Formats: sequence, C-alpha cells, structure tokens
Amino acid sequence: MTADRRDSVRNRFRAVTERLLDPDSDPGQLSEGCIQLQAVFAELSNVSEDSTAADVDRETRLATGVALSPRDAARCVLDTRRTVMYIRGIHSAIQQAVDRFPDQPIHLLYAGCGPYATLALPLTGCFPPERLQLTLLDIHECSIAAVQRIIGALGLHDWIRECLTCDATNYVHPPGSPLHILVIEAMQKTLEKEPQVALTFNLARQLPDGGVLIPEEVHLAACLADLSREFPLYPADHEGSLSLGNMRRRIDLGSFLALTHRTETDDLRPKTFTAPESIGSCNRLLILTKIRVFEDNILDDYDSGITVPTVVHDVGTIEPGDRFQLSYESGPQPEVRVTKTPHP
Ligand SMILES: C[S@@+](CC[C@H](N)C(=O)[O-])C[C@H]1O[C@@H](n2cnc3c(N)ncnc32)[C@H](O)[C@@H]1O
Repeated sequence: MTADRRDSVRNRFRAVTERLLDPDSDPGQLSEGCIQLQAVFAELSNVSEDSTAADVDRETRLATGVALSPRDAARCVLDTRRTVMYIRGIHSAIQQAVDRFPDQPIHLLYAGCGPYATLALPLTGCFPPERLQLTLLDIHECSIAAVQRIIGALGLHDWIRECLTCDATNYVHPPGSPLHILVIEAMQKTLEKEPQVALTFNLARQLPDGGVLIPEEVHLAACLADLSREFPLYPADHEGSLSLGNMRRRIDLGSFLALTHRTETDDLRPKTFTAPESIGSCNRLLILTKIRVFEDNILDDYDSGITVPTVVHDVGTIEPGDRFQLSYESGPQPEVRVTKTPHP
C-alpha cells in the first residue's frame, strides 16, 4: 500500500471511530459507521464474506465452549449497538486509566479479538502509543494473521505489544507487564455456547487491584412474560422515542447470575424461583441478559444479538406457584439449564 493510500484509509478509519464515539450520532449514522468499519477491516485483512480459505469457516470446539470461526467473529462488527457500546465503554475505561496512571502506558489485553480486533483497534486513533499498548489474542491462527495484516496496512505497530495465538482459558499473563484493562467478548445471549465464563474465570483473577474487566458485568435474570405482547414490540424502544417497552407485560422473578471480576464458581450454584400466586397472562419463562460494558454503557434487552431474551420452551406454560430451578452448566456446551421442580 502506498503512503498516500495508507493515510487515506487511516483517515477514514479515524473518521468512523469519531462517529461511533459521538453521543450525538443517530442510529442510522452508527449503523453506517459499523458498515464502513467492516469494509475497511475486510479489505485490509482478507477476511470477508468473499474469502474462500478453509480456515475462515473453521470453528474450534473447546472443553469450555465453541470458539467462533473467523468469519462468524468478523460478522459481529455489524451488531451495531454492541459494537458501539463496547467501543464507547472501552474508550471511557482507557481514558480513566490514563488519568489514574499518568506515568505509564495503559496495557489492554483483548482476549478473543477475532480477525478485526474490532473493539480495540479503532481506539488507537484516540490515544498515542506511549499511553496505550494492546495485546491481542485469539485461538485461531487465521484471525491473528488477519489482525496482523490490518496492523501492517494501517501502520499501527507502535500500539501493539503482542499478537498471540493461544487458548485464553489457559493463558497465564507474564509477570512484569501489568495489565490495566481486560476485554473479553466471546459470548452469546444467556452466556450460552461460547466460553465467556471460562475466559473470565481464568483472566479476571490475573488483573491487579484497580484493573478493569470489560464487560464489567453480565447479568442474567428470570421473568415471566406474556408472549403475545413481547415480540410485536421488537425492536426495543431506543432513546425513549417510543415507550413501547412499557407495554410489555412481565413479572420479575429476580437475578440469577452476575458475571463480574469477583464471580467465583460457587456463585454458579443453581437457584430456585417460584411463580407468584397471581400471574395473569404472564405464563412463559424468559431469561434476560443485560450487559454493563463500562459504567453507563449498557446493553439491555433486544439491544444486541447477545442480549436477546431467551424463551424457555422446555418448561412450557407456567402455572401460579410453579417452581423451577435454573443452573448454569459449564463445559463444551455452556448453557442455562432449567428444570421444573414439583410443588412442595
Ligand atoms: C464472538 S467472537 C467476537 C470477536 C471480537 N471480540 C468482537 O467483539 O468482534 C469471539 C472470539 O473469541 C475467540 N475465542 C473464543 N474462545 C477462545 C479462547 N478460549 N481462546 C482464545 N480465543 C477465543 C473466537 O475465536 C472469536 O474470535
């Protein structure tokens, strides 16, 4: 790539990042921004909808869940609100760390970065390399090779401490290079299928005091819902423009799991919920996923593919007083398992 062409792509990349960070951008501009980000990444990395290499579609089944194929991981950039909330949250977290540690570069480890390192590379335009250093890690060689092509093409080497191909559920961060921020986005709704929980358990405990885990919290909760009023209201009311969410009928049953840097295996113990004596038309069980990326950068119901509520079909129609147990099952197919327990 010529120097002129590199400057032009880099400028485009910076302009898109600014648009995604701008709180005044409207949903159309954000969506367009993510499409442009994908176009730049796809062009520079050779991982796109048109790629024909076999490894692009190869997922990896681990004892802790599925690592998505490079092509599927690349597609996540187009989950607009997810991408925007993570980029904004990570930007704020870096900004705070920069203020808190004025004499050292902030070291960010991005585990499961995929072929584009979507949630971190755009932020190289916001902080100089003396203040921000990235370690990018993925289990797929193909993804790390792709990310290295982007780094080379945009001339971002100065921001990169290391690019590593390894299983981050076993990764041990070397002493002597303290981490400030840890980013993990390897999850689906209700923390099913992908190894977000196992990655968090291994990596969060390696954060020193004051280190920040992104997302700060993944929260799962149970509720009863009237399905006839649940889905016609999709997409969710954003920015309070149309308060359709208020028309949903739900009965909150309570929190089931909160994954943070403090969560321990004991916190994954099963929990029992009881339907109240009066449920009206709210007779189906939903599991809700809410993500606090960092501070007020939040993904709520229906904001993203990874926060779509799960209807628990297995337990069928709920009757007043029904009891059910929810347990988070780790392993090669992580999932929330629900069993109805007999009335006492
Ligand atoms: C859902 S994709 C998201 C990609 C990127 N983080 C983003 O937000 O656009 C998850 C990524 O995590 C990677 N991954 C999953 N499990 C992993 C593990 N145990 N070690 C390293 N990478 C892993 C996958 O290969 C995939 O690239």
